[in-house]
Amino acid sequence: MKIVILGGKGMLGSDLNDACAAQKIETVILDVQEIDITSEASVAKNLPDADWIVNCAAFTRVDDAEKERELCFRLNATGAGIVAKICAARKLPLLQLSTDYIFDGKLGRPCTETDPVKPLNYYGLTKLEGEKLVQAAAGNFLIVRTQSLYGLRGRNFIKAILNQLAQGKTSLRVVADQVSSPTFTVHLADCLLRIMKANARGIVNIASSGQCSWHEFAGAIVAATKPGIPIEKLTTAQLNFPATRPAFSVLDTALYTKLTAHKPPTWQQGLERYLEVEPLAAQVRGMK
Ligand SMILES: NC(=O)c1ccc[n+]([C@@H]2O[C@H](COP(=O)([O-])OP(=O)(O)OC[C@H]3O[C@@H](n4cnc5c(N)ncnc54)[C@H](OP(=O)(O)O)[C@@H]3O)[C@@H](O)[C@H]2O)c1
Repeated sequence: MKIVILGGKGMLGSDLNDACAAQKIETVILDVQEIDITSEASVAKNLPDADWIVNCAAFTRVDDAEKERELCFRLNATGAGIVAKICAARKLPLLQLSTDYIFDGKLGRPCTETDPVKPLNYYGLTKLEGEKLVQAAAGNFLIVRTQSLYGLRGRNFIKAILNQLAQGKTSLRVVADQVSSPTFTVHLADCLLRIMKANARGIVNIASSGQCSWHEFAGAIVAATKPGIPIEKLTTAQLNFPATRPAFSVLDTALYTKLTAHKPPTWQQGLERYLEVEPLAAQVRGMK
């Protein structure tokens, strides 16, 4: 199998590349320097043939998206559409990454692939437009919706908590009324390879098994690295972030399990594995 990864130097793209290397799957890593997904000419000229094109390229700074609207739309909607159109014309299977933020989080139960969509923020709106353009291109596509990613590269929630602990903070404050399922990109990369090997099409949710609030997640990080630090519960309203987030956007992954006969690892297993390899965790654990 040969896989082309667009946005391949980002957080998920690099862990997917590592997962491919471990399984001796050939990859071509292309990031904005090699191929600009917002330019039809660039994609037409530089996209190689492969068994799968995986589009990880995106504008992912959710709060900044509220003001950097033009760039966000160009990447998440127009760019996804350009890639899909060219893949369809060349009959290349496309795996497009999408997000739980296309949902409003008001269902009160995990969202399935067929539940109604209603983004609450501009990032979610552009990702949904991207999904629609991928579907309209009518190629061989698979849209994978995932959520609350953290990986070895780049910034993430766990590092933000560990940084505060490393700085000697004796108490933390974390939002308690947003529930999702934090997902380690190493685990997601493994699931992506499984769903590609299953040759799935359409829309499939993939995220960690289980669910927790950010406050619970922070509690598990603290318990595993510096037990005893109190964590005050905050509300979303207190945070006053530019982008509105869904309150409950857990993804139902039953379809993924049906297609692959594999259950995604739990968020606790993801956290445990991540902390084994995150240098900041060792630093915090070693502090007196
Ligand atoms: N992060 C999450 O929590 C989360 C949750 C749900 C879904 N997702 C989706 O999962 C996918 C991967 O997310 P991620 O967090 O791994 O993203 P990421 O780390 O932000 O990586 C995106 C990559 O795309 C590159 N890029 C930017 N503009 C480009 C262009 N015009 N052409 C080609 N590449 C370009 C970026 O380069 P620069 O860094 O140089 O800009 C970066 O390397 C995205 O589709 C995202 O929407 C993410």
